Amino acid sequence: MTALDHPPLQRLYPADSERYEPLPGLYLEMPLPKGRDGLPWVYANFVTSLDGRISLDDGGSGCRVPGAIANPRDWRLFQELAARADCLLTSGRYLRELAAGCAQDILPLGAGFTELQRWRQARGLPPQPDVAVVSSTLDFEIPPVLLEQGRRVWLLAPQDADPGRLERHRRAGAAVAARTQGPQARGREICQALGSLGYQRVYSVAGPQIARTLIADGSLDALFQTVRHRVLGGSQGAFETVVEGPALTPPAAFQLTSLYLDPGDRPGASQHFLRLDRVGGEAP
Ligand SMILES: NC(=O)c1ccc[n+]([C@@H]2O[C@H](COP(=O)([O-])OP(=O)(O)OC[C@H]3O[C@@H](n4cnc5c(N)ncnc54)[C@H](OP(=O)(O)O)[C@@H]3O)[C@@H](O)[C@H]2O)c1
Repeated sequence: MTALDHPPLQRLYPADSERYEPLPGLYLEMPLPKGRDGLPWVYANFVTSLDGRISLDDGGSGCRVPGAIANPRDWRLFQELAARADCLLTSGRYLRELAAGCAQDILPLGAGFTELQRWRQARGLPPQPDVAVVSSTLDFEIPPVLLEQGRRVWLLAPQDADPGRLERHRRAGAAVAARTQGPQARGREICQALGSLGYQRVYSVAGPQIARTLIADGSLDALFQTVRHRVLGGSQGAFETVVEGPALTPPAAFQLTSLYLDPGDRPGASQHFLRLDRVGGEAP
């Protein structure tokens, strides 16, 4: 038995107070749609505090997921969601943070999750999902390890992207999935580009700007959220939340599909796991 096996999770929604489920496998076995009409099914995942923080300014090198909310049980589910994807969506900023040694980890699936790689292979999938990078600046390096892992690396870059940087990324092994009309890609452009490459399930592991891009035009089909039962505070500008940028009008509506309570292995370690699907999206 591993630390992830205990305690079991209580399913709160759909309501069944007697039903307990192990954490490993929760999102691996959950039915997830595939894309339709040439568009992939797109989902994102965040771990947040009770006061909605996803990252805090660490006092110089940018924002990071705070240790007070990051935890191995959430991390396991983050990896399981990656195992379900055929392409991950990440950002130029993440690759800069990775190069600077400030990112949480290399893109999933992480080194400790070879069993999830085997799970994929048993289903005829490559061991690692491919990667699509959204960036207007193209100011990052492609980590060679991504290509060494056998992944395809795609770029979504604006029409007027710096040709020198584009060429450098091509030489490093990346390919262009789409040239977006404006400097800021739209969610629909990203989905159409990845859909036309044949991807059916895309997992955004990026942060609040990409989340906003996807949510703003109805391109995010589902949001997975781990809410750690802790309040972090932090003054304005020193934290980020799930979506940054101008207000969404009208607000994007999501409906609860599942909710699990993780009581934690000690007082103060509890959290809950939500899945929310876009209202008007494909039935879960
Ligand atoms: N708590 C959690 O679960 C969680 C999850 C994910 C991330 N985070 C945190 O969130 C923070 C930011 O993460 P992130 O940088 O991966 O994601 P992000 O804030 O969504 O993306 C930022 C970068 O993505 C590019 N970008 C975003 N939207 C774009 C658009 N519409 N068109 C073109 N480019 C676009 C830009 O790259 P260029 O500057 O290269 O143009 C931008 O700098 C980090 O501190 C991370 O730790 C927390």
